[in-house]
Amino acid sequence: MSFFQHGVFQHCINPRCGKTFGIEEIHHACPACGELLDVDYDWEDIAASTGVPKNLKHFEAYWSERANPHRLSGVWRFHELLPFLPLEKCVTIGEGQTLLQNAQRVATFVGVKSDRLFLQYEGLNPSGSFKDNGMAAAFSHGAFVGAKRAACASTGNTSASLAIYSACTNLMQSVIFIGSGKIAYGKLSQALDYGALTVQIDGDFDDAMARVQQVSKKLGIYLVNSVNPFRLEGQKTIMFRVLEALNWEVPDWIVVPGGNLGNSSSFGKAFIELHKLGLIQKVPRLAVINAAGANTLYRLYVNEGLRWNAGNYDKALAQKFFAQMDGEGRKASTLASAIEINRPVNLSKCLRALDFCNGVVREVTEQEILDAKAQVGAGGLGCEPASAASVAGAKKLVAEGVMGKDERVVCILTGHQLKDPNATVAYHGTDKTFFDDVLGRRGVGTAQFANRPVSVGNDLDEIVNVLR
Ligand code: F0G
Repeated sequence: MSFFQHGVFQHCINPRCGKTFGIEEIHHACPACGELLDVDYDWEDIAASTGVPKNLKHFEAYWSERANPHRLSGVWRFHELLPFLPLEKCVTIGEGQTLLQNAQRVATFVGVKSDRLFLQYEGLNPSGSFKDNGMAAAFSHGAFVGAKRAACASTGNTSASLAIYSACTNLMQSVIFIGSGKIAYGKLSQALDYGALTVQIDGDFDDAMARVQQVSKKLGIYLVNSVNPFRLEGQKTIMFRVLEALNWEVPDWIVVPGGNLGNSSSFGKAFIELHKLGLIQKVPRLAVINAAGANTLYRLYVNEGLRWNAGNYDKALAQKFFAQMDGEGRKASTLASAIEINRPVNLSKCLRALDFCNGVVREVTEQEILDAKAQVGAGGLGCEPASAASVAGAKKLVAEGVMGKDERVVCILTGHQLKDPNATVAYHGTDKTFFDDVLGRRGVGTAQFANRPVSVGNDLDEIVNVLR
């Protein structure tokens, strides 16, 4: 094993295996046991060489250095907490300029006190979703190991993110695998515009995910899906920015939609490391929210009681679940297309995160997602349907009494409102056929928070009458 970077290595998360690999190696799973890998750090070693911050306030000094692209980046200004490459090798296109909004109207909808609800708006990233946090890290690693092409399967946002990094930097060509008809047009248009080689597969995300792993292995293409442990390093910084916006205070809850479970896994890793380094004393609780039509985590965690169990989670239980799912031909189905995933690749890491953060898992219906989305649009910064699952989930947890009205809750808005305009227009619009086609057939019956457009003739008096 050779280490390019002092104190940095890849580490199998299975405690009975625990094999390590150099960071110059490319793996999507442990070659010895098949489990997922972490990027891991020997913090003592790093402290002795490049240094580890003594407190989180340390990062404030960088705010005055924003003319430097690495200090401007909301990912790389926290480089000391993800030091797997020298800073000069880290690729940035200006990701992570996001904000934490105290959303009072949404708080009322969720049922917590008006100053207690915060929306972490990741839609402000260059490609309009949180994926850019992870892509900055994975793309940097891919370029570092000399890859010429990078690929991903996607429900749309990972592909938009890969495509934009490729277009802006010219370091690797992008190849994206998508399920035919399975991604929202906002996202597809990005990949096409940014010049990605776009492969539409006759199948869904789970099919595309299986294929892209085979193809990238066969052709030596660098894979940037979240089985790539470097992706998750970048996504840790979403949590660092949440803490930064709260003046380094730890909130009571982090609520996040669950799809492939990369985000929830990386948030857990962020808190494990911050705690280990003594940079936080308290750990927030984590709530992962599935769409009811794509609820593998919910079924396994809540119905089947699957737990991390110090790394010895019941694999046979999960395997039996997936075998049954395949036997029944059960496919994920939700209008929150970003999280239309039944085979989450980061399941084990998410179990670890839930364990460390005293987590809970909930599922929400299409109706609950759409109503929450309308409330976010009316009183927050707007988001795509999958993101609103976090707000719908928080509302549910408050109603159950699991989340207290006085608790400080941060919901992650993972993607921009403009990613999926169809769902929004169908909800607010007056076209019944369009409503039925986009939402009704999915089980959305009403649009109680609709802001209906008003139709008038091209006539001054008529228009004036409407506005009086
Ligand atoms: N929200 C949005 C907007 C997403 O695009 C995704 C995932 C998630 C939530 C779920 O996050 O996978 O970390 O649990 N989108 C992936 C993609 C799968 O291909 O763009 P997760």
